[in-house]
Amino acid sequence: MDWGMRNRLARVIKPQTGRTVMLAIDHGYFQGPTTGLEQPAGTISPLVPYADALMLTRGVLRTSVDPGADVPIVLRVSGGSSILKELSNEDITTSMEEAIRLNVAAVTLSIFVGAEHEKQTLVSLSKLVNEGERYGIPVLAVTAVGREMARDARYLGLACRIAAELGAHFVKTYYCEDFEQVVGGCPVPLVMAGGKKIEELEALKLSYNAIQEGASGVDMGRTIFQSEHPTAMIQAVRAVVHENAKPEEAFDLFNSLAGAKSGV
Ligand code: R5P
Repeated sequence: MDWGMRNRLARVIKPQTGRTVMLAIDHGYFQGPTTGLEQPAGTISPLVPYADALMLTRGVLRTSVDPGADVPIVLRVSGGSSILKELSNEDITTSMEEAIRLNVAAVTLSIFVGAEHEKQTLVSLSKLVNEGERYGIPVLAVTAVGREMARDARYLGLACRIAAELGAHFVKTYYCEDFEQVVGGCPVPLVMAGGKKIEELEALKLSYNAIQEGASGVDMGRTIFQSEHPTAMIQAVRAVVHENAKPEEAFDLFNSLAGAKSGV
């Protein structure tokens, strides 16, 4: 890995802890105005100081993030399908030239292992890695889970390993039972995906387990920005990820920050 690639990766996965708290706000690329992201700028700006990186599309980056913000960008460069159609039918939508112009730290796309358009998405990953290697831009592969796909260690382990074998520099996947097997079979850093909004304590437990079982951080969206207290939640997640806080300790922090804000 050359210096530029390593430097960009270190902007996302912080060398001090070897971990990252990424904020995923790319949902609109296939699901339109997701709850909490109807007007992205207002949701994003209070969270930026606590995010190690933002994962988003060029459209939201251009319109809704201050170019003066000192936050690394992981740019989603795949798309082409919507929730109304077959989700796996994605292609690369944003060029590497554009990613460089936007000064991103990494690019990302989804792979749909086992889905109808599996090959198309795996070939897109491989092409993106070829371009990333040329310009020193790391590639994050997201293991998207199709509607009927089981989120178990066998399936997620397969998807993560394929992503790494095709050259992804880091991988995002869901937490599952025997998660350490997924981590163990993936030779590049792995970040845990969030998923639908769940209770804060549950989300902190999931994050804690993932970190203790070897994840290099989390990449969460709805669990943070759909919380009633998003800035408190992201700080609680940071405590788990960067300070090895126990879920209950982080939940206490969440409650005290949330209480302070609402004047309770
Ligand atoms: C997944 O493929 C996309 O990147 C999502 O838009 C994003 O990761 C979702 O984040 P969360 O599930 O934590 O809301």
